[in-house]
Amino acid sequence: MEPGARRARAPARGLTCLLLLGLLAWPGAGAQEFQVLQPQGAVSVSAGENLTLNCSVTGNPPAGPVKWFKGPTRQLVYADSGSDKGSFPRVTKVNNIDTDLTIRISDTRPEDAGTYRCVKFKKGLRVDEEMGSGAGTAVSVSARPSAPSVSGPPSRAEPGTPVNFTCTSGGFSPRNITVTWLKNGAPLPAPQTRVLPEHESVSYNVSSTVGLNLSAGDVRSQLTCQIEHSALAAPLRGTYNLSHALRVPPRLQVSSDPAGPVTRNESVMFTCRAEGFYPQGASLSWLENGNETDPGKPSRPTENPDGTFTLQSFLEVRATEQRNQSVFTCRAVHDSQPPVSDSTTLRVSLPHAEPGKDPASSGGEGPLPEEKMIYIAVAVVCVVLVILLIAVVCLIRVRQRKGKSSASVRLQEPEKSPSAALQDSDPNNLTYADLNFEKPKKRSTRQPPEPSPPSEYACIQKGRPAAADNNLTYADLDMVHLSKAPKRPAPWPEEGASEYASVQIQRK
Ligand SMILES: *[C@@H]1O[C@H](CO)[C@@H](O)[C@H](O)[C@H]1NC(C)=O
Ligand SMILES: *[C@@H]1O[C@H](CO)[C@@H](O)[C@H](O)[C@H]1NC(C)=O
Ligand SMILES: *[C@@H]1O[C@H](CO)[C@@H](O)[C@H](O)[C@H]1NC(C)=O
Ligand SMILES: *[C@@H]1O[C@H](CO)[C@@H](O)[C@H](O)[C@H]1NC(C)=O
Repeated sequence: MEPGARRARAPARGLTCLLLLGLLAWPGAGAQEFQVLQPQGAVSVSAGENLTLNCSVTGNPPAGPVKWFKGPTRQLVYADSGSDKGSFPRVTKVNNIDTDLTIRISDTRPEDAGTYRCVKFKKGLRVDEEMGSGAGTAVSVSARPSAPSVSGPPSRAEPGTPVNFTCTSGGFSPRNITVTWLKNGAPLPAPQTRVLPEHESVSYNVSSTVGLNLSAGDVRSQLTCQIEHSALAAPLRGTYNLSHALRVPPRLQVSSDPAGPVTRNESVMFTCRAEGFYPQGASLSWLENGNETDPGKPSRPTENPDGTFTLQSFLEVRATEQRNQSVFTCRAVHDSQPPVSDSTTLRVSLPHAEPGKDPASSGGEGPLPEEKMIYIAVAVVCVVLVILLIAVVCLIRVRQRKGKSSASVRLQEPEKSPSAALQDSDPNNLTYADLNFEKPKKRSTRQPPEPSPPSEYACIQKGRPAAADNNLTYADLDMVHLSKAPKRPAPWPEEGASEYASVQIQRK
């Protein structure tokens, strides 16, 4: 247009009027200098910020609306007049200057991304005529990812079980994002990270999964999902306490005090120790031979340095004979899991049995040596007494027989003691028995009544009375000359029940 206009002026100045007429008649002739300028090629904005899109026209713009379109489909995003005016609350024209078509979009969103064109229309009779369009400004909205959230397995897992953890974040743009996993600050290898959707989108979601083998010491461990993105000044982190995913079963042990066999009728204390479990909820119960028994006395759970817990229960039992070989079982129910148990057998020993020995029933085995000695001594004494009694009875019989034939008794001295002094110092060296018997009525009732005159017999005891019968000296009554002298007192008290004469032979 411009070159043609200059040429038109140059050849014929006389035709100025015609030319001027023609210029005025040609539509848009006054907009020869008219241009729509969009100085920004591309702008980037973070979601939530305000965005200014510059546009201006050169020359004298005709009356008519200004509109902004987005994308290849020419989606209307702004109109300064007409029926669409006011339907874009977040978009405003920055001033009232006719040549400045700049708009501002407040509180930008990822979906605001796209190429914006500024278009100037000339008001027409029926429809507005498009006079010019800007080159377009590409707008990208970078969106921050949402705070990452980490999820664990749906139920607790025991140590050694592989468990997956997932970290999700969304609403970010552009697409590029980095997810790293840390356990107690140390990076974990090989997470599987996926960004959706696969196609181009205004914003994206990310999901990252990592596999982990839990251990019993993980009660206090923490898992971290770290996200880095261009819209972020600093990485975002989401955390997960592994205690939420972990179940550590108790280690169960039953012990008894005393540890070995328990003396009958004594009490024994069983201790059940459930150690190192997590979470805290655990209960202990006792079984005797498989049957529920006294619930015992549970202690309060104590927390261990690694975050696990220990619980104890005590059961006191009297070691009766009926309980011998009874099996005492401690059963632990932890975190609604099948119970675990440990058992011990009660061994009852007899009260005085030595620890190593295994005594039989209570009346079977003989008594201890001391008692045996006493029994033996008593038996010996009894035997001696019986023998003595028999000897006495024999002697009595012999005397009874001999007393009928002869009334005199002569004592034969043993050869060994020829010089023994005689009681009555008889020059004939004879020993006379004192046959002054006591009256028959004084005799023991055991003795059969003797005929009168009383039989005369003697039993000579040498020295002190001895226990055995071979120490007795029998008098030969044929050799005794009885001297019917009055009774003399015996050198020592005579036994009342004696039925024999006591002859003392003193030795010189
Ligand atoms: C965009 O327009 C605003 C308002 O008219 C102006 O202040 C600013 O300088 C312009 N920016 C550019 C890059 O043209
Ligand atoms: C991203 O996540 C949000 C909610 O977290 C969901 O509404 C949206 O559909 C997801 N988008 C994609 C592309 O998966
Ligand atoms: C054991 O104790 C009970 C009462 O506690 C008692 O009746 C019983 O005689 C005792 N048994 C023994 C062998 O001590
Ligand atoms: C308990 O049983 C053991 C083995 O059967 C046995 O040796 C022991 O003598 C018994 N104890 C009692 C007090 O009966």
